[in-house]
Amino acid sequence: MPVFEVKTAQRNYSAVVERGILRRVREYIPERAGKLFIVTTRDVWELHGTALEQHLSGAEYKTLFFPGGEANKRLSEMENLADGMLAGGADRSSVVIGFGGGIVTDLAGFAAATFMRGVRVLQIPTTLLAQVDAAVGGKTGVNLAQGKNLIGSFHQPLAVLIDPELLATLPPREYRAGLFEVIKCGIIRDRALFNLLDSCSETLLSFDPGLVLDSIAAAVRIKAEVVSADEREGDLRRILNFGHTVGHAIEAETAYVRFLHGEAVAWGMLAATKLAELLHLLPDADAFAIRRCICRYGPLPPAADLDPARLVARLGSDKKTVQGSVHFVLPTAIGCVRIISGVERELIHQAISLALRP
Ligand code: GLY
Repeated sequence: MPVFEVKTAQRNYSAVVERGILRRVREYIPERAGKLFIVTTRDVWELHGTALEQHLSGAEYKTLFFPGGEANKRLSEMENLADGMLAGGADRSSVVIGFGGGIVTDLAGFAAATFMRGVRVLQIPTTLLAQVDAAVGGKTGVNLAQGKNLIGSFHQPLAVLIDPELLATLPPREYRAGLFEVIKCGIIRDRALFNLLDSCSETLLSFDPGLVLDSIAAAVRIKAEVVSADEREGDLRRILNFGHTVGHAIEAETAYVRFLHGEAVAWGMLAATKLAELLHLLPDADAFAIRRCICRYGPLPPAADLDPARLVARLGSDKKTVQGSVHFVLPTAIGCVRIISGVERELIHQAISLALRP
């Protein structure tokens, strides 16, 4: 069972990748914990609620339902959660359990970070995207109409319990969208992982249990290393944003309803790869391989109708823009990236146009 230690100033904790870890959930709840508040969606609860309830045996808990969807990841839902917690008798000894995809773990984490100025959270991600990215590393938050995660905090969990068995019910589109975040990890830091994903797409897409577990473990290892080196994204952690600069703009431009996060990131990785090529930073063969690999996990919902000028304009309200300068994470080879700022808008526009209209 791969266990990855995340070591941060706020808290050290384990991200455990293990089939059936849900059955051991009680081991990760502190002995003197107060009431548990499970933040989830009705569809996740219908599929996996009974299993979680069974293994919480004896613990006092209340389930709080969030309507789901990126468009609902807003402050108003946070208020609903806080109301639900208060009504359920929450106090500072309470523990929030984020039980769902990345939207749920982001929102549950932020609710925990702010309720009575902070209570503990245990993350149990149920989608691949949340297992390999969102639930690990303590980023929590909600969206504004202008952009993603513009309000939030770093709030590290007690642990992240990553159970690949929970993915058996995941719709194929969601599974593929999560795999784009695994591909991201390969491109930014691990050529061997990238090569594995590039050469074994059929096996991975057919949900081979061993390969699924190995791919998740590889991505979580990278995430744990990066977050442990730079919890608050002052430096190294920025590499995890590869594909997210344009990806977030695409999500905001389409009101968070047309693309899954991983799909928008895939388009964003294609745009960043094109930009790296235009800046002569990336060898042609690597750019070709990145496009080929992303394509193997497609098809992506088309993005050719999006106006590149509007996407460029949106980059200004991204968190990664500092003093008006957009920061891009650009590949210089598979397994290596650089943070580049001060790229001319014309060139960004060109890269987005070429990437979205293949
Ligand atoms: N999803 C990027 C990060 O956690 O830093």
